[in-house]
Amino acid sequence: MRLQDKVAIITGSGSGIGRAAAERFSEEGAAVIIADLPNSNGGQVADGIQSNGGTARFIPVDVTKADQINELVEITIKEFGKIDIMYNNAGIAMPITPIEEVSEGFFEKMMDINMKGVFLGTQAVVPYMKEAGKGVILSTGSTSAPRPRPGLNIYCASKGAVVAFMKSMALELAPYGIRVNCINPVATNTPMVDEEQRSKFIHSIPLGRLAQPIDMANTALFLASDEASMITGVDLEVDGGRCI
Ligand SMILES: NC(=O)c1ccc[n+]([C@@H]2O[C@H](COP(=O)([O-])OP(=O)(O)OC[C@H]3O[C@@H](n4cnc5c(N)ncnc54)[C@H](O)[C@@H]3O)[C@@H](O)[C@H]2O)c1
Repeated sequence: MRLQDKVAIITGSGSGIGRAAAERFSEEGAAVIIADLPNSNGGQVADGIQSNGGTARFIPVDVTKADQINELVEITIKEFGKIDIMYNNAGIAMPITPIEEVSEGFFEKMMDINMKGVFLGTQAVVPYMKEAGKGVILSTGSTSAPRPRPGLNIYCASKGAVVAFMKSMALELAPYGIRVNCINPVATNTPMVDEEQRSKFIHSIPLGRLAQPIDMANTALFLASDEASMITGVDLEVDGGRCI
């Protein structure tokens, strides 16, 4: 068991990549907190893990709200006693949109969920991890940070901000034994990617297929485990060669 007795919070784990990570972490012995919007599938994901013999708890949360994130962390500490892994994964995408048509409101929503959510999730766990003298913080970036696609302008910008923030945090938190890493998925088979985009994306991936959520979950598992104890500040592309 690679995460035996660890406690992990995973945001956006009611679906897609976060769900796969929650299920994979549970298989390896972690107690997982499914942190997702109240109307998400978070409850079902937690129930599924429990019925397979794992430990999971759904805590409804909007990652853009500091009070809700702080409450998420407080409940986790109260019920599980510690937080070993914080995986800031929740995010939204956008349709291909010429920059002239991107509204200020949508820009703010994108940055709030994709970037501010990572900031709040990181900030909330750091005091506990500093006190413990250890911890792992992961975030889901995107290949659209190092290898943008046309028309995904502010999505790419939000993920570029996440990658830079994670690297900065890796330096700031290394003296406290806290490792900080980012996973950059290529187009992945989740509800986020629509049918029209799929075939277009596949042609740009040298390995010739979309990623599966389990590809990201296995990467997150490795980075969260002690096997990666010398790895911090990495933005790891899981992309079938897309960024070459
Ligand atoms: N699917 C891809 O092709 C792809 C590629 C690169 C990066 N990513 C990133 O991976 C992450 C997960 O995406 P996915 O593909 O699993 O998508 P998904 O839509 O399947 O899951 C995203 C989850 O985030 C949750 N969420 C959205 N806003 C939230 C909020 N304000 N508070 C809490 N939870 C919220 C949703 O309810 C959903 O359960 C995202 O950060 C996304 O940008 C995805």
